Amino acid sequence: MKKIIIAIDGHSSCGKSTLAKSLAKDLDYIYVDTGAMYRAVTLYFLQNNIDLNNLDQVEKSLKDIHIRFQKSGDLTHTFLNDKDVEFDIREMYVSNKVSEVAEISIVRKVLVREQQEMGIDKGLVMDGRDIGTVVFPAAELKIFLTASIEVRTKRRFDELHQKGLTVDYETVQKNLNHRDHIDSTRLDSPLKLADDAILIDNSEMDKEKQLERVKQLAMSKILAKSC
Ligand code: DC
Repeated sequence: MKKIIIAIDGHSSCGKSTLAKSLAKDLDYIYVDTGAMYRAVTLYFLQNNIDLNNLDQVEKSLKDIHIRFQKSGDLTHTFLNDKDVEFDIREMYVSNKVSEVAEISIVRKVLVREQQEMGIDKGLVMDGRDIGTVVFPAAELKIFLTASIEVRTKRRFDELHQKGLTVDYETVQKNLNHRDHIDSTRLDSPLKLADDAILIDNSEMDKEKQLERVKQLAMSKILAKSC
């Protein structure tokens, strides 16, 4: 069977990672969470007091950042310079800064190049904001996920609380609205629906139904490519 690239883009906290991870597992594909890459860069900048307005400093520091993923059972952990930062990158202080970092073109240039290298052998499910539009514009399957702001806030709120992070509902909603605004209006690679993407609003759809639907779409693309 020929392998394809599956791009999953969409708003913050609409279940992209959950869908992408399950899909990759069922297809035996590699899963890449590109949001984790932007988060790891943000964590590095915060830890090293990098001034986001000083583009020389930003560019130089990017050379000192090495991000890799390591599977641990069903989970994939993000490593920043060989340190497991999977927990740290999900903290609110990183979420509050990450969209600002993701606006910087040199950051995007470096990360997009790394993401494209990961797709050389295909067999990849990648989620983010610009995967179907910029990273892999020729991806065989493009999904654009969304859900209402209320549903997304509740999901992120429950997720953070399950992890033991204390944060109130309004703060979570404000952060999601803020990130959606910056992600969709930035000049470089804004979040937008690719012409050939399939739009799925999962506000009232359960995870299993969503996975089945996307798996069917993927299988028909894989079969079409294999004959
Ligand atoms: O998917 P996430 O919420 O973990 O992503 C964190 C931030 O990174 C998000 O606010 C926008 C940015 N991002 C991006 O600009 N491009 C991507 N391909 C992935 C994420």
